[in-house]
Amino acid sequence: MSSSKDARGACITGIGCYVPEKVLTNEDLEKMVDTSDEWIVTRTGIRERRIAAETEAASDLAYHAAREAMKKAGIKAKDLDQIIVATATSDMIFPSTACVLQDRLGAKNAAAYDLTAACSGFIYGLSMAHSMILTGKAEKILVIGAEVLSSMTDYTDRTTCVLFGDGAGAVVVEPCEAGKGILATYMRSDGSYTDLLYKPGGGSRMPLTAERIRQGKQYIHMKGDGLFKYAVKAMVSAARKTASDAGLTTEDVDYLIPHQANIRIIEGVRKRLKLTKDQVIVNIDRIGNTSSASIPIAWCEFERDHPERVSEGDIFMLVAFGGGLTWGAVLYKK
Ligand SMILES: CC(C)(COP(=O)(O)OP(=O)(O)OC[C@H]1O[C@@H](n2cnc3c(N)ncnc32)[C@H](O)[C@@H]1OP(=O)(O)O)[C@@H](O)C(=O)NCCC(=O)NCCS
Repeated sequence: MSSSKDARGACITGIGCYVPEKVLTNEDLEKMVDTSDEWIVTRTGIRERRIAAETEAASDLAYHAAREAMKKAGIKAKDLDQIIVATATSDMIFPSTACVLQDRLGAKNAAAYDLTAACSGFIYGLSMAHSMILTGKAEKILVIGAEVLSSMTDYTDRTTCVLFGDGAGAVVVEPCEAGKGILATYMRSDGSYTDLLYKPGGGSRMPLTAERIRQGKQYIHMKGDGLFKYAVKAMVSAARKTASDAGLTTEDVDYLIPHQANIRIIEGVRKRLKLTKDQVIVNIDRIGNTSSASIPIAWCEFERDHPERVSEGDIFMLVAFGGGLTWGAVLYKK
C-alpha cells in the first residue's frame, strides 16, 4: 500500500461467514411453546434459524468466519494488527472473545478487543476500523460480529425464542485508494431505553444466584412493540444522514443491507427509502435475528450466492438498530 496515510480509504478485502449446522424450524418451535408457523412468518418473516452446538461458543463461530475472510483477503493471521469482535454473547465476561480468537488464529501481532453495541455492533466495529485505518493506526483489521444468542434465550418465552439465531460474519479491512470502500459512518445511542432489550442478570448489577436463575434473569428480556416503533425511524434517519455525509442521497444506494430483526421493520425502512425489493438483502427467513452477526452474514451470503449482481462502484448501505438503544449506518462503495 503506497498511498499516504492522510489520503487513503478503507476497503473490505475479504468477507466470511459461518452458521452452525443445527436448524431450528418454526415447526420445531410449535412443539416447544404456544406458537404457530403462520404467526411467526406473518409477524417476523422468520421460517428457521441456526443454533450452535453445546460445544460452540462465540469465538468458535467467529473463527470459521474469520478464516474465510482472511483467506479471501489473502492475508495471514500474523499480519493482523487489530481484531475487533462485536458480540453480546462473549465466551466469558472477560477476557474478551477477541483475545480467545486471537490465540486460536495465531494472530500474535494484533491488539484484540470486544465491542458491545448489541445488534449495531458490526456497524460500530466497522466505524472503528475505518477511523483506525484513516489515521494510520492500523493496516489490517479483522472486524467480526459473532453471537450465540441461543445461550441467553428462554425457550419457554414465545415472545423472544422465535426471533433469535446464532452465527458469525467477518471482514478484513485494509487501506485502499481514497474515494473507495467505506465512504461514511454514523453511530448513535440512547441509553434511556435500556429496558426495551436487555439481559438483567450475570453482570455486576445483578450477579447470578440460584434465585435469580429461577426468575429467568439470565435470559434476554424484550419489549418488542417499543423497539419496533423506534427501529424504523432510527434506521431511516441513520441511512439518510450517512448518505448525506458522503455527499450522496439514498437514491444513490444500489443495495441496502439492514439488520435482520423483523421483515416488517425491513419493509418499513425499504419503503421510506424508496428502494425496490431487489435492492434489499434479506436472509431473515433462514437465519433469524443474529444481532451483530446479521449484516456481515447477509453481505457474505449475497456476495457468495450472487456474484453476478455485484459490480465495481456499487454503493451498499449497511444499517442497524439494537439494544442500548444503539443504531447506525455505514456507506460502502465497491
Ligand atoms: C416481537 C414482535 C415480532 C411482536 O410482534 P407484534 O406484531 O408487535 O405482536 P404483539 O407483541 O403485539 O403481540 C400480539 C399477540 O401475539 C402474541 N404473541 C407473541 N409472540 C407470539 C408467538 N411467538 N406466537 C404466537 N403469539 C405470540 C402476544 O402474546 C400477543 O397476544 P395478546 O394480544 O393476546 O397479548 C415485534 O414486536 C418485533 O419484531 N419487535 C421488534 C423486536 C426486535 O427487533 N428485537 C430485536 C431488536 S434488534
